[in-house]
Amino acid sequence: MGLSRIVKFFSGGTTTQAEPLDQEPRPAGAVPADLFSLAQPTRAQKLVNSVVGGVSSWLARPTNEMQLRLWRPHLERNKANINHLADQFMAQWKQSGQTTRPKALVLGVGDAYDIDLAHLSRFFDLILVDIKEGVGNQALKSIPYGQRGASKGVQYDLTNGIIAKLLREGVEAIKANQPTEAIVDAAIEQSRTGVDQNPFGPVDFVVSSMLMSQLGQMPLGFLRDVAQQLGRSMEKYEDLHWFDTFSKKAVLQGALIKRHVDLLKKFVLEGAWVYAATDIVLKEPTHHSIVDHSFVFDVRGAPYIELTDLIVGDEVMQVQALDTWEWNIESDTKLEVQALAMVPVGIPMIRPLPAATF
Ligand SMILES: C[S@@+](CC[C@H](N)C(=O)[O-])C[C@H]1O[C@@H](n2cnc3c(N)ncnc32)[C@H](O)[C@@H]1O
Repeated sequence: MGLSRIVKFFSGGTTTQAEPLDQEPRPAGAVPADLFSLAQPTRAQKLVNSVVGGVSSWLARPTNEMQLRLWRPHLERNKANINHLADQFMAQWKQSGQTTRPKALVLGVGDAYDIDLAHLSRFFDLILVDIKEGVGNQALKSIPYGQRGASKGVQYDLTNGIIAKLLREGVEAIKANQPTEAIVDAAIEQSRTGVDQNPFGPVDFVVSSMLMSQLGQMPLGFLRDVAQQLGRSMEKYEDLHWFDTFSKKAVLQGALIKRHVDLLKKFVLEGAWVYAATDIVLKEPTHHSIVDHSFVFDVRGAPYIELTDLIVGDEVMQVQALDTWEWNIESDTKLEVQALAMVPVGIPMIRPLPAATF
């Protein structure tokens, strides 16, 4: 069976066998749900999280009500930015005489905390993509039933299987108490070569929100948590630790981000509008000062601090900065978030979100 056939599509709560995503059989990168459960916090850790907060680098979701409240201004601002761009897209769509329902892709949908799926589904048929099994299907449930149209959830590794392989092989190595370094090296090598394809067919609007910073961070953070849960010596898994500028991990992150940006550009070349937002710099207090850590890198592992330096316009694509804001992830720790629009050349200027308080 072609590997692309084993991607699972979810539609309206029922799991159906995938259609082939494109003509070429290629790795689907499906990751079974029980793989992720290996590093779920224990009951004791959940209790600690619920009292003191704290978010695992790969879970990327608030761990308690207090944290959710702290995150709210960021979540609302991101939603408003996406809705604002989607509304401008729709005005243009109607103006050009289109009568069909356009198709929108939400990449790395997760729990859709920062994406207003109910609003988007009023206009678009949505494809909700995530590497984790069942996540797209779960997100679909936040859309009123009568408004789902042809929307569906899809399990897919947007790195064309590189991360899925790293996760599977990494877990096997940790279970066998073997080092993971060679597996991380192989992922770096693989991510430097080739390009990711659009396996979803023609789409009109694409959302990539808080995914770029996660591409390398999620698998390494996850494997580290697995090693911890299985009581392994953490020295042995030092290579999975937080990435510093020009470290191997920064190179992995940089290569994966470049591929992702190339993929986003491909959507624009095919006529779509893209909303791209990412947390780009972590501002962490120390005893004396605030220390900035970037986690959006180039392919050499050098940090970016401006998303418009990473995603640049050219003769076929216009790139326009939309917004920059701070996300308080902990009471004393902030992330800087930047959002931009990528649209085909010839589209009238995109209007940024009017000033408002969140
Ligand atoms: C930080 S979360 C963003 C979630 C979403 N924006 C929200 O508001 O909840 C990133 C999501 O991307 C998914 N993800 C990470 N790497 C991925 C990959 N290679 N392919 C597809 N999804 C991926 C994760 O599983 C996670 O759900």
